[in-house]
Amino acid sequence: MKLNNELEALLNAQVNMEIEAAHQYKAMAAYFEGRELEGFAKWMDAQVQEELEHSRKIYDYIFKRDGKVEYFALEKPKADFSSVKEVFEVALAHEQKVTAAIRALYKAARDAEDYGVETFLKFFIEEQEEEEETVKKIIDKVTFLDADNKNVNLYLLDKEMGERK
Ligand SMILES: [Fe+2]
Ligand SMILES: [Fe+2]
Repeated sequence: MKLNNELEALLNAQVNMEIEAAHQYKAMAAYFEGRELEGFAKWMDAQVQEELEHSRKIYDYIFKRDGKVEYFALEKPKADFSSVKEVFEVALAHEQKVTAAIRALYKAARDAEDYGVETFLKFFIEEQEEEEETVKKIIDKVTFLDADNKNVNLYLLDKEMGERK
């Protein structure tokens, strides 16, 4: 069954939005690399790959449903940050924007009674819940470690405790 025009346009926007997310995460990886924070840079690089996979998944689905894929111009991603925490706050805001877009897409699929698109989107609904939770947890951790230097030792001890088999 061919996609209707509205769903085709929204899915296309989503292909682009996932690339835009990858692009933003690349800028964040570069920011961390520049600050010699290689662990954070590695985390961001993994995030880039995930977003590219999301984009590809939707791309494949559009073709599966006889649609057409179009790429838009990308905006310059935010590259300067005042702190590690700000990076993840921007990441969270971006993920929330993606969540809203996925929800709107899901609703459009429901309204069109396109059960195929609805089923396809279930993965993304769950994925967004995970993404938001993960980023929120990082913000909480960064806040906790920032609050008091003693917390750094507590963090290390907590890590050791968590290694119990
Ligand atoms: Fe994504
Ligand atoms: Fe994401």
